[in-house]
Amino acid sequence: MKALQDKIRQDGIVLSDQVLKVDSFLNHMVDPQLMLEVGQEFVRRFEGVTFDKVLTLESSGIAPAVMTALTLQVPLVFARKHKSLTLKDDLYVETVYSFTKQVHNEITISRKFLAPGERILIIDDFLAYGEATFGMARIIESAGATVAGVGIVIEKSFQDGARRLKEAGYRVESLARIASLGEQKVTFLP
Ligand code: G4P
Ligand code: NA
Ligand code: NA
Repeated sequence: MKALQDKIRQDGIVLSDQVLKVDSFLNHMVDPQLMLEVGQEFVRRFEGVTFDKVLTLESSGIAPAVMTALTLQVPLVFARKHKSLTLKDDLYVETVYSFTKQVHNEITISRKFLAPGERILIIDDFLAYGEATFGMARIIESAGATVAGVGIVIEKSFQDGARRLKEAGYRVESLARIASLGEQKVTFLP
């Protein structure tokens, strides 16, 4: 997606050969027009596939996911990272390890927001090793629902999340695919 690549080139900050900072349009300040175009592009790429809901993980997945859900005219559910105060019986819970931050997070979704047979589109802002996406997929499948697609705003293709998700049989559509963050610059896959 050209507008997204241009924005990453213009405003992204290469923090290291592993981490790209995009807090001026995605992770802190949000560019709503670009997020709308991101949502529309996901819908175009998954044309012909039906979805009942969009699922993401708070917080940075919400902006692109809500625009995708708006365009599809379906609800958005975001998995939460904070432990809920309500009874765990009402929740799906998965533990997700973040290699980037080296912490385990518990992610939760209320049982009432996922139903058996539903077809779910997972959206996330970044794909690194795929741990967050696999955690959401485990919850979807334990609810008897189906992962009908995975949409990623920025895939770091030099980490192995995309490969692992495709090997597990999921269809992954990434709008920007980064081959390398070496030499303090962003190199996209062709
Ligand atoms: P994984 O799910 O693909 O295995 O990724 P990982 O655990 O390594 O990522 C942990 C957090 O770091 C996620 O955000 C993810 O979006 C983010 N992240 C991973 N790589 C990058 C990167 O190169 N740049 C930026 N800006 N973020 C990256 P999170 O902890 O869920 O935070 P948030 O959604 O509240 O922003
Ligand atoms: Na993030
Ligand atoms: Na994220």
